[in-house]
Amino acid sequence: MSLLPTTSIANIAGHVGQTVTLAGWVYNKTEKGKLVFIQLRDGSGTIQCVTFKKQVSEESFAAAQQLTQEASCRIIGSVRTDERAPGGFEIDVQEVQAVGASHDYPISPKDHGVEFLMEHRQLWVRSAKQHALLRVRAEVIAAAQEWLNSQGFVRFDSPILTATAAEGTSNLFATDYFDLGKAYLAQTGQLYVEAGMMSFGKVYCFGPTFRAEKSKTRRHLTEFWMIEPEVAFATHEDNLVLQQNFVSAIVQRVLERRGEDLKTLERETSVLERCQPPFPRISYDDALKLIEASQGEVEGATPIPWGEDFGAPHEQLIAAKFDRPVFVERYPAAIKAFYMEPDPDRPEVALCADLLAPEGYGEIIGGSQRIHDPLLLEQRIRDHGLNIDDYQWYLDLRRYGTVPHSGFGMGIERAVAWITGTRHIRETIPFPRMLYRIYP
Ligand code: 4AD
Ligand code: MG
Repeated sequence: MSLLPTTSIANIAGHVGQTVTLAGWVYNKTEKGKLVFIQLRDGSGTIQCVTFKKQVSEESFAAAQQLTQEASCRIIGSVRTDERAPGGFEIDVQEVQAVGASHDYPISPKDHGVEFLMEHRQLWVRSAKQHALLRVRAEVIAAAQEWLNSQGFVRFDSPILTATAAEGTSNLFATDYFDLGKAYLAQTGQLYVEAGMMSFGKVYCFGPTFRAEKSKTRRHLTEFWMIEPEVAFATHEDNLVLQQNFVSAIVQRVLERRGEDLKTLERETSVLERCQPPFPRISYDDALKLIEASQGEVEGATPIPWGEDFGAPHEQLIAAKFDRPVFVERYPAAIKAFYMEPDPDRPEVALCADLLAPEGYGEIIGGSQRIHDPLLLEQRIRDHGLNIDDYQWYLDLRRYGTVPHSGFGMGIERAVAWITGTRHIRETIPFPRMLYRIYP
């Protein structure tokens, strides 16, 4: 015998008038005399199941009465349309089979603090809002990969345990690696996808990345997921066009397929609907001027001298000037990673861009054209105080058939936070890892 349901709630519309078996958990339950109303959720949706004492066996009615919040059960009943029901359908119950009990479920409908909910993350993921958020996350990931696949990209997985730093040496997680010294958890897969790019032309990696960031902000995780495309013969210009098409395709697919979830999250969607190419661009230099001219508009967005990086308030201010995501391009090379190609007309700036999301969500993409000249790359590695021996394999990519090339990395959680309108990034991943959280 199989315990599988015959129908998932999401497909209930195709079963009106039929008897179906549902299997799931009790979201809510109310009793009224001879009636027990069970809000059943099965992961695909929620539906009200009406148990009428006269229409079921004594065992079934007792089972229905004993159900509590988040108890699991199987329900057999017939599907009926009901205009007053939230989804438009209800179940007239014929049989209730209890499966797993749930006594004193810790998360009640009343308001809990976020710390309490985070301590119970393993249960919190069942709640309607968290469920919608993580659904959108899954859609963003699927959309990103499928869009790249449709454009001829090949997925090329990069290692998590690495011998080298790629995004600075200050935020590395280190571990002992047998007799070979230290290994570091990957901050990015980029250097490795560059090898893949020389084999396949267009590649991407997708996986968890790690930064031992001591920052306790609403935008930083120590473990986050990044998707990183890399394209041979692509210039900085080509890179920006790819990014705007990529981001728009993902956002439009979420609008098309996850409208219900966005509604659950009370997301204002007009800003998402506007997310169409081309995206506006502003240079780092002009962004400095904009900040200078907009003093007092955003708290903390005080003018900064040329050569310094933006803080969150600066990014918020810049983004607020545009109605869709905006590229900030050509940052001072000195504040960016060692591998970025200098602008040939102005070597003090790099051919790079950060994509800032609207509404204060900040940077969701970092990308650049890469240095393809072996001597310049070697120089930059030394200038950054990195050990040249660790990068011989990477320099080989420039020694054998080097080409101009570009790529970028989009942080999944930052993108999901923006798309869903979630203030804090910690809710956009099933089990967030932060400075002060590694449980559960
Ligand atoms: O700008 P970043 O550091 O760029 C890179 O790692 C490049 N190697 C990517 C590439 O060109 N292939 O990080 C890229 C993105 C950021 O824009 C942000 O979305 C996300 O990764 N990110 C983080 N997300 C959550 N928590 C953190 N601590 C993050 N650090 C970066
Ligand atoms: Mg960045």
